[in-house]
Amino acid sequence: MEAVPHNPGDPMTVELTITSPEQMRELGRRLAKLLRAGDLVMLSGELGAGKTTLTRGLGKGLGVRGAVTSPTFVIARVHPSLGDGPPLVHVDAYRLSGGLDEMEDLDLDVSLPDSVIVVEWGEGKVEELTEERLQLVIHRAVGDTTDEVRQVTVTGLGDRWAAADLSVLSA
Ligand SMILES: Nc1ncnc2c1ncn2[C@@H]1O[C@H](COP(=O)(O)OP(=O)(O)O)[C@@H](O)[C@H]1O
Ligand SMILES: [Mg+2]
Repeated sequence: MEAVPHNPGDPMTVELTITSPEQMRELGRRLAKLLRAGDLVMLSGELGAGKTTLTRGLGKGLGVRGAVTSPTFVIARVHPSLGDGPPLVHVDAYRLSGGLDEMEDLDLDVSLPDSVIVVEWGEGKVEELTEERLQLVIHRAVGDTTDEVRQVTVTGLGDRWAAADLSVLSA
């Protein structure tokens, strides 16, 4: 295979094949090591793709309090750090009609710039966003619902991620 040179300005992308929910949680734990306060992670993929499963591992990796569950019935849930790391703000974008700007109006009792924000985004909504973010798109085989294989595309967008080494996510 020919190595493709990286052009400055191109987004950083890695493709991962995940074969079980445990591996998805492990990916979340690895992801946590790359994250710091102020980071935004967008998770896209259809219902049941594994967005919440990944966030569960991410919460473990960040060392935050409370069980990470689907933020159904609430727009966002705040998980404070058990140590001195950033809190995790877990958002269900299906319930955010006005986009991320609406987050500021939620009265979350947490400083968003001091948090790691993870948004579960619906398929097809991502195109509207231009912000600096780490984008994960989770694909699964259509039809066979027992298939545990997921293809995950991780893309770092903006200056924050320009020099990040996303290869640490695969091993
Ligand atoms: N490789 C995998 N990664 C993540 N979840 C998987 C995988 N294989 C099977 N599953 C199952 O698929 C479901 C994913 O649910 P969830 O994480 O809530 O998805 P979403 O938040 O994207 O709707 C869980 O029941 C999980 O056990
Ligand atoms: Mg979910």
